[in-house]
Amino acid sequence: MPLIEIKELSKVYGFGDATTIALDEISLSINRGEFIAIMGPSGSGKTTLMNILGLLDRPTHGEYKLSNQHVERKTKIAQAMIRRDNIGFIFQSFNLLPRLTIIENVALPLAYKGVYQKRRLKAAEVVLDQVGLSDKEYYYPNQLSGGQLQRVAIARALINDPSIIIADEPTGNLDSVSARVVMELLKEVHELGNTVLMVTHNPSLTRYADRIIYMHDGNIVYDESTAVGEVPKRVQKAVEALRTSTDDDKLADVSAMMEEMPEQLSIKPVPKKSKSKSKSKTKVKSTRKKGKKK
Ligand SMILES: Nc1ncnc2c1ncn2[C@@H]1O[C@H](COP(=O)(O)OP(=O)(O)OP(=O)(O)O)[C@@H](O)[C@H]1O
Ligand SMILES: [Mg+2]
Repeated sequence: MPLIEIKELSKVYGFGDATTIALDEISLSINRGEFIAIMGPSGSGKTTLMNILGLLDRPTHGEYKLSNQHVERKTKIAQAMIRRDNIGFIFQSFNLLPRLTIIENVALPLAYKGVYQKRRLKAAEVVLDQVGLSDKEYYYPNQLSGGQLQRVAIARALINDPSIIIADEPTGNLDSVSARVVMELLKEVHELGNTVLMVTHNPSLTRYADRIIYMHDGNIVYDESTAVGEVPKRVQKAVEALRTSTDDDKLADVSAMMEEMPEQLSIKPVPKKSKSKSKSKTKVKSTRKKGKKK
Protein backbone atom coordinates (compact mmCIF):
# COMPACT_ATOMS: atom_id res chain seq x y z
CA MET A 1 0.00 0.00 0.00
CA PRO A 2 1.50 3.35 -0.99
CA LEU A 3 2.11 5.91 1.73
CA ILE A 4 0.92 8.74 -0.48
CA GLU A 5 -1.49 8.38 -3.34
CA ILE A 6 -2.87 11.24 -5.37
CA LYS A 7 -5.25 10.89 -8.26
CA GLU A 8 -5.99 13.49 -10.94
CA LEU A 9 -5.14 16.23 -8.56
CA SER A 10 -5.45 19.82 -9.76
CA LYS A 11 -4.79 23.18 -8.24
CA VAL A 12 -6.19 26.24 -9.91
CA TYR A 13 -5.42 29.73 -8.67
CA GLY A 14 -7.49 32.80 -9.48
CA PHE A 15 -10.39 32.97 -11.90
CA GLY A 16 -11.40 34.40 -15.26
CA ASP A 17 -8.51 35.77 -17.26
CA ALA A 18 -6.21 35.47 -14.26
CA THR A 19 -6.58 31.70 -13.85
CA THR A 20 -3.39 29.71 -13.30
CA ILE A 21 -3.45 25.94 -13.45
CA ALA A 22 -0.62 25.22 -11.02
CA LEU A 23 -1.26 21.46 -11.04
CA ASP A 24 -2.98 19.79 -13.94
CA GLU A 25 -4.58 16.47 -12.97
CA ILE A 26 -1.50 14.90 -11.49
CA SER A 27 -1.48 11.29 -10.34
CA LEU A 28 1.34 9.93 -8.27
CA SER A 29 1.99 7.25 -5.72
CA ILE A 30 4.83 7.28 -3.22
CA ASN A 31 5.99 4.36 -1.13
CA ARG A 32 7.22 4.54 2.40
CA GLY A 33 10.97 5.10 2.57
CA GLU A 34 11.44 6.68 -0.84
CA PHE A 35 13.75 9.67 -1.30
CA ILE A 36 12.30 11.67 -4.15
CA ALA A 37 13.92 14.65 -5.83
CA ILE A 38 11.42 16.94 -7.51
CA MET A 39 12.78 19.14 -10.24
CA GLY A 40 11.41 21.47 -12.85
CA PRO A 41 11.50 25.10 -13.94
CA SER A 42 10.25 27.97 -11.87
CA GLY A 43 6.46 28.02 -11.84
CA SER A 44 6.07 24.35 -12.80
CA GLY A 45 4.10 23.57 -9.64
CA LYS A 46 6.68 21.98 -7.33
CA THR A 47 5.90 24.08 -4.26
CA THR A 48 2.18 23.83 -4.93
CA LEU A 49 2.48 20.04 -4.96
CA MET A 50 4.62 20.00 -1.79
CA ASN A 51 2.14 22.27 0.00
CA ILE A 52 -0.76 20.00 -0.91
CA LEU A 53 1.13 16.83 0.04
CA GLY A 54 2.11 18.54 3.31
CA LEU A 55 -1.53 19.52 3.96
CA LEU A 56 -0.63 23.20 3.99
CA ASP A 57 -2.94 23.74 1.04
CA ARG A 58 -5.93 22.04 -0.56
CA PRO A 59 -6.35 20.81 -4.10
CA THR A 60 -9.07 22.30 -6.28
CA HIS A 61 -9.97 18.84 -7.60
CA GLY A 62 -8.77 15.31 -7.16
CA GLU A 63 -7.96 12.83 -4.45
CA TYR A 64 -5.21 12.64 -1.88
CA LYS A 65 -4.81 9.54 0.25
CA LEU A 66 -2.23 9.46 3.03
CA SER A 67 -1.71 6.04 4.63
CA ASN A 68 -4.84 4.93 2.78
CA GLN A 69 -6.97 7.66 4.32
CA HIS A 70 -8.61 10.40 2.31
CA VAL A 71 -7.20 13.65 3.68
CA GLU A 72 -7.99 16.23 1.01
CA ARG A 73 -11.33 17.31 2.45
CA LYS A 74 -10.66 17.00 6.14
CA THR A 75 -11.18 20.04 8.35
CA LYS A 76 -8.28 22.38 8.87
CA ILE A 77 -7.90 21.20 12.45
CA ALA A 78 -7.87 17.54 11.45
CA GLN A 79 -5.32 18.31 8.72
CA ALA A 80 -3.15 20.22 11.20
CA MET A 81 -3.11 17.20 13.49
CA ILE A 82 -2.18 14.81 10.68
CA ARG A 83 0.52 17.25 9.64
CA ARG A 84 1.87 17.60 13.14
CA ASP A 85 2.12 13.85 13.67
CA ASN A 86 3.40 12.82 10.27
CA ILE A 87 5.16 15.58 8.39
CA GLY A 88 8.27 17.68 8.96
CA PHE A 89 8.98 20.71 6.76
CA ILE A 90 12.24 22.27 5.71
CA PHE A 91 12.06 25.45 3.65
CA GLN A 92 14.62 27.39 1.66
CA SER A 93 14.25 30.38 3.97
CA PHE A 94 14.53 28.33 7.21
CA ASN A 95 11.39 29.96 8.72
CA LEU A 96 12.76 30.28 12.25
CA LEU A 97 11.30 32.75 14.73
CA PRO A 98 13.89 35.50 15.36
CA ARG A 99 12.90 36.20 18.95
CA LEU A 100 13.19 32.64 20.14
CA THR A 101 16.47 30.95 20.92
CA ILE A 102 17.60 28.04 18.77
CA ILE A 103 16.45 25.48 21.33
CA GLU A 104 13.06 27.19 21.70
CA ASN A 105 12.61 27.26 17.93
CA VAL A 106 13.36 23.56 17.71
CA ALA A 107 11.05 22.75 20.63
CA LEU A 108 8.17 24.79 19.24
CA PRO A 109 6.30 21.97 17.42
CA LEU A 110 6.06 20.14 20.77
CA ALA A 111 4.48 23.21 22.37
CA TYR A 112 1.65 22.88 19.83
CA LYS A 113 1.30 19.32 20.98
CA GLY A 114 0.93 20.37 24.61
CA VAL A 115 4.21 18.87 25.81
CA TYR A 116 5.59 20.48 28.99
CA GLN A 117 8.49 22.85 28.65
CA LYS A 118 11.04 20.70 30.42
CA ARG A 119 10.32 17.73 28.19
CA ARG A 120 10.22 19.94 25.12
CA LEU A 121 13.66 21.35 25.78
CA LYS A 122 15.05 17.92 26.57
CA ALA A 123 13.77 16.60 23.25
CA ALA A 124 15.13 19.67 21.44
CA GLU A 125 18.54 19.03 22.98
CA VAL A 126 18.55 15.53 21.54
CA VAL A 127 17.75 16.59 17.97
CA LEU A 128 20.11 19.57 18.12
CA ASP A 129 22.81 17.13 19.09
CA GLN A 130 21.89 14.97 16.09
CA VAL A 131 22.49 17.89 13.73
CA GLY A 132 25.71 18.86 15.53
CA LEU A 133 24.54 22.10 17.10
CA SER A 134 24.54 21.39 20.81
CA ASP A 135 26.77 24.39 21.41
CA LYS A 136 24.30 26.82 19.82
CA GLU A 137 21.21 26.06 21.90
CA TYR A 138 20.96 29.48 23.50
CA TYR A 139 21.96 31.53 20.49
CA TYR A 140 19.40 33.48 18.47
CA PRO A 141 18.83 32.82 14.75
CA ASN A 142 20.60 36.04 13.71
CA GLN A 143 23.79 34.74 15.35
CA LEU A 144 24.04 31.65 13.14
CA SER A 145 25.16 31.05 9.56
CA GLY A 146 22.77 29.95 6.82
CA GLY A 147 24.03 26.38 6.95
CA GLN A 148 23.62 26.27 10.72
CA LEU A 149 20.12 27.74 10.47
CA GLN A 150 19.11 25.06 8.02
CA ARG A 151 20.42 22.41 10.42
CA VAL A 152 18.28 24.01 13.13
CA ALA A 153 15.31 23.80 10.75
CA ILE A 154 16.06 20.12 10.18
CA ALA A 155 16.20 19.54 13.94
CA ARG A 156 12.83 21.29 14.27
CA ALA A 157 11.41 19.14 11.46
CA LEU A 158 12.62 15.99 13.22
CA ILE A 159 11.43 16.72 16.73
CA ASN A 160 7.99 15.19 16.22
CA ASP A 161 9.52 12.08 14.74
CA PRO A 162 7.66 12.55 11.46
CA SER A 163 7.68 9.81 8.84
CA ILE A 164 7.60 12.24 5.93
CA ILE A 165 10.07 15.07 5.41
CA ILE A 166 9.15 17.72 2.87
CA ALA A 167 12.08 19.89 1.91
CA ASP A 168 11.42 22.69 -0.58
CA GLU A 169 14.79 23.77 -1.96
CA PRO A 170 16.53 23.13 1.38
CA THR A 171 19.91 24.10 -0.03
CA GLY A 172 18.69 26.97 -2.18
CA ASN A 173 20.23 29.63 0.05
CA LEU A 174 23.38 27.76 0.99
CA ASP A 175 26.96 27.62 -0.25
CA SER A 176 28.10 24.26 -1.56
CA VAL A 177 29.79 23.17 1.69
CA SER A 178 26.73 23.91 3.86
CA ALA A 179 24.51 22.35 1.20
CA ARG A 180 26.49 19.16 1.47
CA VAL A 181 26.13 19.05 5.26
CA VAL A 182 22.38 19.54 4.92
CA MET A 183 22.15 16.84 2.26
CA GLU A 184 24.11 14.39 4.40
CA LEU A 185 21.65 15.02 7.23
CA LEU A 186 18.72 14.43 4.91
CA LYS A 187 20.41 11.25 3.77
CA GLU A 188 20.63 10.08 7.38
CA VAL A 189 16.99 10.93 7.95
CA HIS A 190 16.16 8.83 4.90
CA GLU A 191 18.31 5.96 6.09
CA LEU A 192 16.28 5.82 9.28
CA GLY A 193 13.32 4.75 7.19
CA ASN A 194 11.69 8.10 6.57
CA THR A 195 10.20 9.25 3.30
CA VAL A 196 11.90 12.36 1.94
CA LEU A 197 10.41 14.63 -0.71
CA MET A 198 12.88 17.24 -1.79
CA VAL A 199 12.48 20.01 -4.35
CA THR A 200 15.76 21.08 -5.87
CA HIS A 201 17.06 23.10 -8.79
CA ASN A 202 20.45 21.50 -8.45
CA PRO A 203 20.73 18.36 -10.61
CA SER A 204 23.79 17.10 -8.75
CA LEU A 205 21.72 16.72 -5.58
CA THR A 206 19.56 14.12 -7.27
CA ARG A 207 22.32 11.64 -6.38
CA TYR A 208 20.80 11.46 -2.89
CA ALA A 209 17.44 10.42 -4.25
CA ASP A 210 16.18 7.05 -5.36
CA ARG A 211 13.53 8.54 -7.60
CA ILE A 212 13.41 11.69 -9.70
CA ILE A 213 10.24 13.47 -10.64
CA TYR A 214 10.42 16.23 -13.17
CA MET A 215 7.59 18.75 -13.45
CA HIS A 216 6.68 21.10 -16.22
CA ASP A 217 3.64 23.37 -16.50
CA GLY A 218 1.78 21.65 -13.68
CA ASN A 219 2.39 18.17 -15.06
CA ILE A 220 4.73 15.35 -14.19
CA VAL A 221 6.69 14.80 -17.37
CA TYR A 222 9.29 12.41 -16.08
CA ASP A 223 9.24 9.99 -13.15
CA GLU A 224 12.06 7.52 -12.79
CA SER A 225 13.68 5.34 -10.15
CA THR A 226 17.42 5.63 -9.81
CA ALA A 227 20.16 4.18 -7.65
CA VAL A 228 21.16 6.27 -4.64
CA GLY A 229 24.57 7.80 -5.28
CA GLU A 230 24.02 8.16 -8.98
CA VAL A 231 22.90 11.13 -10.94
CA PRO A 232 20.67 9.61 -13.59
CA LYS A 233 21.95 9.74 -17.17
CA ARG A 234 19.32 12.17 -18.36
CA VAL A 235 20.02 14.57 -15.53
CA GLN A 236 23.76 14.19 -16.09
CA LYS A 237 23.27 15.04 -19.72
CA ALA A 238 21.39 18.16 -18.77
CA VAL A 239 24.13 19.12 -16.33
CA GLU A 240 26.80 18.62 -18.96
CA ALA A 241 24.85 20.72 -21.41
CA LEU A 242 24.76 23.41 -18.79
CA ARG A 243 28.29 23.22 -17.54
CA THR A 244 30.30 26.32 -18.26
CA SER A 245 34.04 26.57 -17.99
CA THR A 246 33.72 28.87 -14.98
CA ASP A 247 32.10 27.13 -12.05
CA ASP A 248 30.64 23.68 -11.82
CA ASP A 249 29.23 24.20 -8.39
CA LYS A 250 27.07 27.09 -9.44
CA LEU A 251 24.45 24.79 -10.79
CA ALA A 252 21.81 25.94 -8.42
CA ASP A 253 20.29 28.33 -10.88
CA VAL A 254 19.37 25.91 -13.56
CA SER A 255 15.85 27.07 -14.08
CA ALA A 256 16.62 28.31 -17.54
CA MET A 257 18.06 24.99 -18.56
CA MET A 258 15.12 23.21 -17.05
CA GLU A 259 12.78 25.07 -19.38
CA GLU A 260 14.56 23.28 -22.21
CA MET A 261 15.13 19.98 -20.53
CA PRO A 262 12.10 17.84 -21.35
CA GLU A 263 12.31 18.55 -25.06
CA GLN A 264 16.05 18.59 -25.24
CA LEU A 265 16.28 15.19 -23.65
CA SER A 266 13.22 13.92 -25.46
CA ILE A 267 11.39 13.14 -22.27
CA LYS A 268 8.00 11.86 -23.17
CA PRO A 269 5.02 13.07 -21.21
CA VAL A 270 3.93 10.61 -18.58
CA PRO A 271 0.45 9.32 -19.37
CA LYS A 272 -2.16 10.96 -17.17
CA LYS A 273 -3.55 7.87 -15.52
CA SER A 274 -1.08 5.47 -13.91
CA LYS A 275 2.37 6.85 -13.74
CA SER A 276 3.70 5.55 -10.47
CA LYS A 277 6.39 2.97 -10.57
CA SER A 278 7.56 0.41 -8.17
CA LYS A 279 11.10 1.06 -7.18
CA SER A 280 13.88 -1.04 -5.98
CA LYS A 281 14.54 -0.76 -2.32
CA THR A 282 17.74 0.99 -1.37
CA LYS A 283 20.28 -0.91 0.63
CA VAL A 284 21.49 1.82 2.92
CA LYS A 285 21.75 0.75 6.49
CA SER A 286 20.41 2.65 9.42
CA THR A 287 23.17 4.24 11.43
CA ARG A 288 21.06 4.99 14.44
CA LYS A 289 18.36 3.04 16.13
CA LYS A 290 14.95 4.53 16.04
CA GLY A 291 11.58 2.86 16.16
CA LYS A 292 9.51 4.19 13.31
CA LYS A 293 5.83 4.17 13.97
CA LYS A 294 4.83 4.87 10.37
N1 LIG B 1 -1.04 31.83 -4.08
C1 LIG B 1 -1.00 31.86 -5.41
N2 LIG B 1 -1.86 32.60 -6.12
C2 LIG B 1 -1.84 32.59 -7.48
N3 LIG B 1 -0.98 31.87 -8.21
C3 LIG B 1 -0.10 31.11 -7.56
C4 LIG B 1 -0.05 31.06 -6.13
N4 LIG B 1 0.94 30.20 -5.76
C5 LIG B 1 1.49 29.76 -6.92
N5 LIG B 1 0.88 30.30 -7.99
C6 LIG B 1 1.17 30.01 -9.39
O1 LIG B 1 1.17 28.61 -9.58
C7 LIG B 1 2.21 28.20 -10.44
C8 LIG B 1 3.09 27.18 -9.74
O2 LIG B 1 3.79 27.83 -8.67
P1 LIG B 1 4.80 27.08 -7.70
O3 LIG B 1 5.16 28.02 -6.64
O4 LIG B 1 4.19 25.78 -7.33
O5 LIG B 1 6.03 26.82 -8.69
P2 LIG B 1 7.46 26.20 -8.36
O6 LIG B 1 7.64 25.07 -9.31
O7 LIG B 1 7.58 25.91 -6.91
O8 LIG B 1 8.44 27.40 -8.77
P3 LIG B 1 9.85 27.86 -8.12
O9 LIG B 1 10.87 26.91 -8.70
O10 LIG B 1 10.03 29.24 -8.66
O11 LIG B 1 9.74 27.81 -6.65
C9 LIG B 1 2.95 29.47 -10.84
O12 LIG B 1 2.45 29.88 -12.10
C10 LIG B 1 2.57 30.46 -9.78
O13 LIG B 1 2.56 31.76 -10.28
MG1 LIG C 1 8.80 26.67 -5.37
